[in-house]
Amino acid sequence: MYNLQEGGPRMASRQVIWENASIATMRQNGSAYGAIEDGAIVVTGGRISWIGARRDLPPQKDAERRDLGGRWITPGLIDCHTHLVFAGDRASEFELRLKGATYEEIARAGGGIRSTVNSTRAACEDDLFRASRARLGALIAGGVTTVEIKSGYGLDTENEAKLLRVARRLGADAPVTVRTSFLGAHALPPEYEGRQADYVELVAGEMLKRIAAEGLADAVDVFAERIAFTPAETARIFEAAQRLGLPVKLHADQLSDQGGAALAARFGALSADHLEYASKAGVAAMAAQGTIAVLLPCAFYFLRETKKPPVEIFRKYGVPIAIATDCNPGSSPSLSLPLAMNMACTLFQLTPEEALAGATRNAARALGMADRGVLETGKVADFAIWDIRHPAELAYWIGGAPLFRSVKDGADR
Ligand code: NIG
Ligand code: FE
Repeated sequence: MYNLQEGGPRMASRQVIWENASIATMRQNGSAYGAIEDGAIVVTGGRISWIGARRDLPPQKDAERRDLGGRWITPGLIDCHTHLVFAGDRASEFELRLKGATYEEIARAGGGIRSTVNSTRAACEDDLFRASRARLGALIAGGVTTVEIKSGYGLDTENEAKLLRVARRLGADAPVTVRTSFLGAHALPPEYEGRQADYVELVAGEMLKRIAAEGLADAVDVFAERIAFTPAETARIFEAAQRLGLPVKLHADQLSDQGGAALAARFGALSADHLEYASKAGVAAMAAQGTIAVLLPCAFYFLRETKKPPVEIFRKYGVPIAIATDCNPGSSPSLSLPLAMNMACTLFQLTPEEALAGATRNAARALGMADRGVLETGKVADFAIWDIRHPAELAYWIGGAPLFRSVKDGADR
């Protein structure tokens, strides 16, 4: 029988050496991908205790050794923007859009987010968990070891809390770290039709207080858009979030220029996301505040958007770019972060190295997580091991991530 008393401490101090691998550390040290050829990583108690060229590896006694046969190691991928927990699907809206209806038209006619709200409210916690766990499995199979999950399909206090509890449970169940964002201001629920101001007060008041008190959210997000919430309403919710000590993020300038990028920056947001219609002034404001630009190419693709986010301007101002799946049933039913990286290259002209930085180093910053996203001493031992010959392959295969295995908190699977 497994002896907990002996097993616990031994597990914590167990040393494993991963060797005979090339390592894309994603550190910004002047070399492409921060790469180390013929490298080794020593993991002690779930953290990286040493990393470098194998020839420099200090002698280690009693360590287990894993020969990786020349494969590549990258930081575990970080999907920093998902709406993974929902019930149902919106395939019928996809058909409508293919016949010419726009995303905004469908939303204004009472479909869109509201239709997923109906199915999510009707689902019990266990059913929501099962459906979401299957989707999470697909993300993990693509090398993801950290994922952000938003609420926003409950739109009342009970259902928003239910959704965030499911997200927390997913993190406890799966070999992945889950960060949650409360997105009560995703759409106006039907029972508040004509009373948007009252709903904003509910979100900024009772809902936020309860979600914060129960520790259900790591950040607060708002959908600022013509079909969702105004800049003034967004500011009201952000002020309430900041009073509770919660960082903010924003769905900004996705379908129109709402001044979202600058608004996010004004609140020192961790990230502004989508940004197809962001202005130059907005990008400059983000640069000044260190707000990360999260680009969501699968949503751009699936909505057949033609206005691209201003990548050249992000580069010019030095705004770090992150890439995420935006997994959701309406605008991005996507379950592969490497596919999002591929699309970031083909649709937005990122380089494969920028795409990988977007799914690792910059994604960690978009979540405010300083302990991951690059491979260096002291960081969590979350990494992905790939059957590839060059890291550019991670953005090259269209939907076929050649993951060999991933390592989460030092444990391989
Ligand atoms: O990120 N833009 C708003 N929210 C989601 C779409 C949600 C939905 O359509 O269900 C997005 O694209
Ligand atoms: Fe989103």
